[in-house]
Amino acid sequence: MGITITSPVTPGQMSVFIGIILVWVAWLYAEWLEYRKNSGASKIVTRDEQALLLEGDPGQAANQGHISSIKSTLRRFLLMDNSIFIDNRETLIAMSELGLWLAYFYLSDRTDFFGQSSKSYSRDLFLFLYSVLVIVAAVTSFKLLNDKYPLLGNSMLYLNRHQTEEWKGWMQVMFLMYHYFSASEIYNAIRIFIASYVWMTGFGNFSYYYVRKDFSLTRFAQMMWRLNFFVAFCCIVLDNDYMLYYICPMHTLFTLMVYAALGIMNKYNEVGLVIGTKIAACFLVVVVVWEIPGVFEWVWSPLTFILGYTNPDPLSKRYPAIHEWHFRSGLDRYIWILGMIYAYFHPTVEKWMEKLEASQAKIRVTVKAAIVAISLLALYFWYESIYKLDKYTYNRYHPYTSWIPISAYICLRNVTQKLRRSSLTLFAWLGKITLETYISQFHIWLRCGVPNGQPRRLLSLLPGYPMLNFLLTTAIYISVSYRIFELTNKLKAAFVPSGDSRRLLYHVAAAGAASAVLYPLSLFLLEVTSVPT
Ligand SMILES: *[C@@H]1O[C@H](CO)[C@@H](O)[C@H](O)[C@H]1NC(C)=O
Ligand SMILES: *[C@@H]1O[C@H](CO)[C@@H](O)[C@H](O)[C@H]1NC(C)=O
Repeated sequence: MGITITSPVTPGQMSVFIGIILVWVAWLYAEWLEYRKNSGASKIVTRDEQALLLEGDPGQAANQGHISSIKSTLRRFLLMDNSIFIDNRETLIAMSELGLWLAYFYLSDRTDFFGQSSKSYSRDLFLFLYSVLVIVAAVTSFKLLNDKYPLLGNSMLYLNRHQTEEWKGWMQVMFLMYHYFSASEIYNAIRIFIASYVWMTGFGNFSYYYVRKDFSLTRFAQMMWRLNFFVAFCCIVLDNDYMLYYICPMHTLFTLMVYAALGIMNKYNEVGLVIGTKIAACFLVVVVVWEIPGVFEWVWSPLTFILGYTNPDPLSKRYPAIHEWHFRSGLDRYIWILGMIYAYFHPTVEKWMEKLEASQAKIRVTVKAAIVAISLLALYFWYESIYKLDKYTYNRYHPYTSWIPISAYICLRNVTQKLRRSSLTLFAWLGKITLETYISQFHIWLRCGVPNGQPRRLLSLLPGYPMLNFLLTTAIYISVSYRIFELTNKLKAAFVPSGDSRRLLYHVAAAGAASAVLYPLSLFLLEVTSVPT
């Protein structure tokens, strides 16, 4: 019984395949060495001892710092020194596991090994499942941070983080179920959820850079790693365009914009006028690029090779390759700036809120009732006049109106101290892995089938039992996403160590060298093994 592959193997896939095999071999070798070392069969020198041997005087070694350690790593690598395998065993384990998951992705999405089934939508089932999850979350994971947490300083940041993660979590579940059940009637709500993520990108990154002032190369690289490491592998292994996972380029762009806005002349960030000017400049850039016809194409079409996307479905409408990027980035072009503005005024608002909480009950209740009334009214009018529009008309208004429900939600969510302090941990947990669940859904929960295909099918492990299949694939999919989240962080710590830009550049060079060997080798192998058609 053979497995049929649905599309021809690309050199990129071949390179990753060879790479994974090499990593597995290296890992097994490391395990074997470790075993031998522990059983005392041979004397293998570890990194620290090695450094002593190579550098001689330990004081001098410390002086020369990591330059010599990089040199020695290189030397050890070239000499196939055994200790390098033992020292990096943890990293090898992580890389091997990642290879395993990538193989599972390929097996699920690009071969006929598992079955597939089609989507079906029932509003009743959709709402039932979502409600069950909310009830489970409320019953099992409700958390009220008590008064022991002073509502000031870091714990406030912590509170905030918890809240934003919970927010991400409950939206993500609905977003994913929207895909799984093809719930096209909530299309407009999904657009609001995506806008909320982008709002959080502006809010979180502004707060971070404004307070921490860390614009270093390694911090920057860590941020890019977090956003793009896994998706890059998915693009290669599944032969997809980056734009298939449009959330990733979008957040990368807006993160870069916030980084640039705060990073340029960051010495003057304390000055209110400077921040005001920077925010105005962001608005100006967006207006010029997205609102003036022709400018968008002029700016972005040179990058079509990264940001282009063509739907392979012959039934889909034909657009220029850059259209998808125009559409996706355009929908949320303003909301990240609003996130920055909220972040800037966040401390001020917090002070107001404290004052309000400390004031007389009468004033407090009146002000809060007014806030609730205004938010609800705004929501109502927005719902009646914007939300109910059909999706094409709605999309035209979305960039200018998405701030209304988002602001209303933020006001309502924070209106009492108790609400502010409580959160549903289950959703907060899911909110941490939104990037991974977003990317993985295409391949191990849903199914695209072909390069760049939209995920129109469901992965079916239990044919004939749609609900049990939903349960099983969901359990696997969430667990794998969580593992990938952990592996991404582990590998980030190994390859992009904080504050060590020399080591980072060395790793970049090593990765470049590895690709320079693997890619031509793969081309060659595919050439010689290709079956004439
Ligand atoms: C209110 O809640 C949201 C998340 O639910 C949070 O991001 C925001 O910072 C909070 N606002 C204030 C002023 O605390
Ligand atoms: C910046 O935005 C990205 C994209 O949403 C996010 O993953 C990251 O956590 C944000 N950084 C901070 C410090 O909030």
